[in-house]
Amino acid sequence: MPDADWWKALWPDPESVLRRLGIDFGTTVVDLCCGDGHFTTSLAHIVGGMGRVTAVDLDAEMLEKAQVRAHRAGITNGTIRWVECDACSLQDIMTTAPDYVFIANTFHGCPEKQKLALDVFNTLKPGGQLAIVNWHFRPKEDTTVLGQPRGPATDLRMTPETVMDEVLPVGFRLHGVIELPPYHYGIVFDKPKVS
Ligand SMILES: C[S@@+](CC[C@H](N)C(=O)[O-])C[C@H]1O[C@@H](n2cnc3c(N)ncnc32)[C@H](O)[C@@H]1O
Repeated sequence: MPDADWWKALWPDPESVLRRLGIDFGTTVVDLCCGDGHFTTSLAHIVGGMGRVTAVDLDAEMLEKAQVRAHRAGITNGTIRWVECDACSLQDIMTTAPDYVFIANTFHGCPEKQKLALDVFNTLKPGGQLAIVNWHFRPKEDTTVLGQPRGPATDLRMTPETVMDEVLPVGFRLHGVIELPPYHYGIVFDKPKVS
C-alpha cells in the first residue's frame, strides 16, 4: 500500500473520481480491496444515508487504518461494513446483491483476474456495475508523483483492452472508459439486466 502523502497528492479529490465513474447517492457499493480507505470514506459521503458501503480487504492492518480514517471523517456507524476476507469470497459475504463494485489499483496484481470478474458478476444485482481503476500502461519511470516513480512495475500494468479481455468473457458489457489524469483510467462494465 502506498505512502499516504503521495497517494493524497495523486488523488486529491477522490469524490470527483467516484462521481465520474457514476457512483451516486443511495448506491450500495463494495470497495473491493479497499486498502487504507482513501476511497472508502468518499464513497460513504457520496452514497449518503440511503446507500451502504462494504469495504473488503484481506489485510487487517489496512482495514484498521481505513476505519480510523472514516471515523475521523465523521462517517456514522452503519454506513460502512468492514470485512476482512479475500476478494474472491465476495459472494459469501454479501447478503444482498450490491449495485456497484469498485476495484482501484489492485486488479493488475490479481492472480486470477477472470475468476475475480466472474465472482463480481455473480454477486452484483442485474443492471449493476463494476468499475476497475488502473494505472495506465506506461513505463513506471514516467509516472512520477512528488518526484519519484510510482505505481506498479511496468510489466504488471494493463491496457484497458487487456482488462476487457479478462472481464467481458464472464458476461459483462462495456459501459465506458474514463480518463482519470494524470496516470489512471477507469473502466465501467454493466451486468445486463437479463443475462
Ligand atoms: C494498492 S492497495 C489499493 C487500495 C485502495 N483500493 C486504493 O486504491 O487506495 C491494494 C490493496 O488490495 C488488498 N488486496 C490485495 N489482494 C487482495 C485480495 N485477494 N483480497 C482482498 N484484498 C486484497 C491489499 O491488502 C491492499 O490493501
